[in-house]
Amino acid sequence: MTRVMHENDINFTGKIVWITGASSGIGEALAVLLAGKKARLILTARRASALETLSARLDTAVKVLPADLYTADFAALSAAALAAFGGIDMVIHAAGIGQRSLAVETPVKVYRQLMEINFFAPVAITGCLLPVSNAHMVVIGSMSGLMGFPGRTGYAASKHALKGYFETLQVEQDVPVTIVSPGRVQTNLSLSAITASGEAHGVMDEAQIKGIPVMECAARILEGVAKRKKHVIIARKEKYLYWLHKWWPSIYYKMAKKYSFTTGK
Ligand SMILES: NC(=O)c1ccc[n+]([C@@H]2O[C@H](COP(=O)([O-])OP(=O)(O)OC[C@H]3O[C@@H](n4cnc5c(N)ncnc54)[C@H](OP(=O)(O)O)[C@@H]3O)[C@@H](O)[C@H]2O)c1
Repeated sequence: MTRVMHENDINFTGKIVWITGASSGIGEALAVLLAGKKARLILTARRASALETLSARLDTAVKVLPADLYTADFAALSAAALAAFGGIDMVIHAAGIGQRSLAVETPVKVYRQLMEINFFAPVAITGCLLPVSNAHMVVIGSMSGLMGFPGRTGYAASKHALKGYFETLQVEQDVPVTIVSPGRVQTNLSLSAITASGEAHGVMDEAQIKGIPVMECAARILEGVAKRKKHVIIARKEKYLYWLHKWWPSIYYKMAKKYSFTTGK
């Protein structure tokens, strides 16, 4: 459904948007849609070649700024992003990794890796920008940031932490924040999800394949951001699990236990 723009909606034309995790999936889809709206883009992820390929497809001003958010010098990275077009209007924190391991087999270093990329990287970038910019923070959380799901102890913890940080930030000071909680989306997230050994899962889960098409997800994210929504939930079946979690937790606990932690079915 196409929504008619309201006069108070954010107009993305000319806006300077820094997208982390822009080399694939939700970040890439957002870059494509924002380029169509003539936003100026700063694209970050590890794979410089994927970012360059994407940049060549986009008919807008683009700065490719590759970085590994596990090891990045966040002060230098943020300074480079600010310098690219002389400011930042919006940051989309989309970089992230998934998890496929049970708590009983998962060493702390796997939890640290998940927290570094999914939680500490957005926090570090935000900390660098807050003193110099009032950029709108768009945070790609997850339904696993609202409730637990088997095989995702670390992932769910990182996304709960992310929601806690950004929700608190926006009540602490006047920073525009949109937290996005998607259910499953058709991306490569299950391929790169880390297992107990720290290696990539390397399997495209059936539930992921049946998820929301990535362009649909990106369009709904931008619609929520344009309306300055504080929280956007984009989900199918997971939405019902979430309502059960909220209003009928005993049923949620019974149902969530039945999901396979590897396939997500
Ligand atoms: N797909 C879903 O079902 C789903 C559901 C809920 C939430 N999410 C969230 O959506 C976000 C995007 O994921 P996606 O589904 O689009 O998966 P994706 O296609 O695997 O995208 C993940 C992005 O994160 C980047 N990334 C991973 N590790 C990085 C690192 N160390 N440094 C810099 N960039 C890194 C990847 O780029 P490089 O490999 O080039 O570094 C890639 O661009 C994640 O935060 C994820 O948790 C996804």
